[in-house]
Amino acid sequence: MTELNWSISFDERISPEGMPNAAKVDDYANFHKKSIKEYKEFWAGLATELDWFKPWDKVLDDSNPPFYKWFAGGELNASYLCLDRHVKSARKNKVAIIWEGEPMEDGKPKEVRKLTYYDMYREVNRVAHMLKEKYNIKQGDVIGIYLPMIPELPIFMLAASRLGAAFCVVFSGFSSDAIAERMNDAEAKIIVTADGSWRAGKMLDLKSIVDQAMQKAKTVKNVVVVTRTRNKVNMVEGRDEYFEDAMKGVHTNAYVEPERVKSESPLYILYTSGTTGKPKGQVHDVGGYMTLLHATMKWVFDIKDSDVYWCMADIGWVTGHSYIVFGPLMEGATEVMYEGSPVFPEQNRWASIIERYGVSVFYTSPTAIRGWIKGGEQWVKMHDTSSVRLMNSVGEPINPEAFKWLFRLVGREKVPFGSTWWMTETGGIMISHVPGLMMLPMKPGTNGFPIPGIDAEVVDEKGNPQKAGERGFLVLKKPWPGMPLTIFKDPNRFVDVYFSKFPGQFYAGDYAVRDPDGYFWVLGRADEIIKVAGHRLGTYELESALIQHKAVAESAVVGVPDEIKGEVPVAFVILRQGFIPSEQLKGELKELIRQQVGPIASLKDVFFASKLPKTRSAKIMRRVVKAVAMGMPPGDTTTLDDEASIDEIKNAYAQLSGEVGKK
Ligand code: WT7
Repeated sequence: MTELNWSISFDERISPEGMPNAAKVDDYANFHKKSIKEYKEFWAGLATELDWFKPWDKVLDDSNPPFYKWFAGGELNASYLCLDRHVKSARKNKVAIIWEGEPMEDGKPKEVRKLTYYDMYREVNRVAHMLKEKYNIKQGDVIGIYLPMIPELPIFMLAASRLGAAFCVVFSGFSSDAIAERMNDAEAKIIVTADGSWRAGKMLDLKSIVDQAMQKAKTVKNVVVVTRTRNKVNMVEGRDEYFEDAMKGVHTNAYVEPERVKSESPLYILYTSGTTGKPKGQVHDVGGYMTLLHATMKWVFDIKDSDVYWCMADIGWVTGHSYIVFGPLMEGATEVMYEGSPVFPEQNRWASIIERYGVSVFYTSPTAIRGWIKGGEQWVKMHDTSSVRLMNSVGEPINPEAFKWLFRLVGREKVPFGSTWWMTETGGIMISHVPGLMMLPMKPGTNGFPIPGIDAEVVDEKGNPQKAGERGFLVLKKPWPGMPLTIFKDPNRFVDVYFSKFPGQFYAGDYAVRDPDGYFWVLGRADEIIKVAGHRLGTYELESALIQHKAVAESAVVGVPDEIKGEVPVAFVILRQGFIPSEQLKGELKELIRQQVGPIASLKDVFFASKLPKTRSAKIMRRVVKAVAMGMPPGDTTTLDDEASIDEIKNAYAQLSGEVGKK
């Protein structure tokens, strides 16, 4: 359970400059009220701004809730929206992606690629042609993608969507087991990877990770390997092929008709961690999703043709899917994409990127900012970052110190700077400031307000609106475009996880509070999901990896605070008969997690115990485990989700802390 670890300063309002249309809370409140009352008409108005091959029959098919179909019967294509539209316009030779690789020399990247919309269009067409002719990829298929941050990643995503096929991207920090599990669940036909990638001076051997995954991935028949590092990799005859070879016969001017897909057909499947069970495949649609991205690119990022936009996320997470690939490209923006670490070879790489490309709209994260603060502000001051006119943060609550630091050093204490709340499930931003529409005063740490068309609320345990200043659960009360179609192959779970705690409403799993001015402050997860550097990890995945070790009988993983990453996981382990705690065993368990889940899940520590605290209903009392890991008393015993009695908690705490203390 996450507790708020800084004090909220509700009254500290900052009015950003340069927003001619700044309006009062009352105006926004009224506009918003109307938008949620007539939400179907409201969203339909936005959807008409997209290019449809065939208009929808119904704005919202709500005949089978919570499985909603937005713009049912309408036909469109995401790759057409991102490419063909611009190629027919003055944007044809406008730069779409400025990419730089990691290796640097004298403060400059060794490799920069600038791809125009026409370049992207031609390449996506050629790749789509190859996928179709060579691997018989068509509508209804799924392709797996395990690529680093190179232009081929968005190119393959767009090529799949051009064919009406869905894709499933696995973040390159995940392990072979994590890939295999996702490929099997998604029933991917092929997987696209690279011979390697650079991160912080190290070469990541992605292909050998895929080779291991292939031993378990039953449905994947072929591996396409993009050349990046020229690392020597093992190619399996008849199964693996270099991308360059696969493309050899494809005409330089190949064209593939964009498939006219139904609005409610799947664009992609992206796996996220939950509290229990294996990762859930969130299925996102085309029509609703693209409509939400269109709206939020305009309202939240105020995107203009003159902007240079930079979202620092990795495309392997939803932030990159929505706000590196589909959102900015649909809007015809020029954007920056980079490989590697933003603080390698030196702390200033990110600030140097802003300066070198003149970034004007910047999307970053609290974990990144905390790292920069630690590195020291001299690294930012080396560069002219005054091109930045708007900033946003995402991934976890932003602590006011981090907000103020970036606001001062890059924001020059005047540019709009918000914290956009959303999640993999929501497809796009839900609660945020909307400088592109009207700007309300900012408060360091707040998320602002639900965007137009989104009906969010903080409720108590019974689902009634919570009083101002009181913590409650965050819910979304109406369907929205961009919501998942379902959890892939598990519709019951979709209903259970999101729509059963508060029937008919989407339960986000976050604690939130509204301040007396109505601003939303999302406080953190109300469940056992851990956020490591803004990335979501489920305790279940880590625990099920640990029990695969022959010495482990049972385990509990909890997140503990970390200065930079926000949270990091630690494990409590009960050993089987005949095994004794040792440093070597700790090392083995840490390595096991890296192997099974991936480096992003690295355990900070392992504690050995002989018993784990449980409630009478046999649920592990993670709050107690967490308190022990942090060397703190069990703490607040009045939380809303508490299943155990106060005595039970106190006893369990005394027992476990005594035990762990001994060792
Ligand atoms: C969880 C979703 C969606 C982009 C990246 C994360 C937390 C995200 C914020 C924010 C407070 C935030 C929530 C949410 N979260 N953004 N601006 N303020 N909390 O996607 O991995 O699906 O994680 O991230 O706890 O539930 P995700």
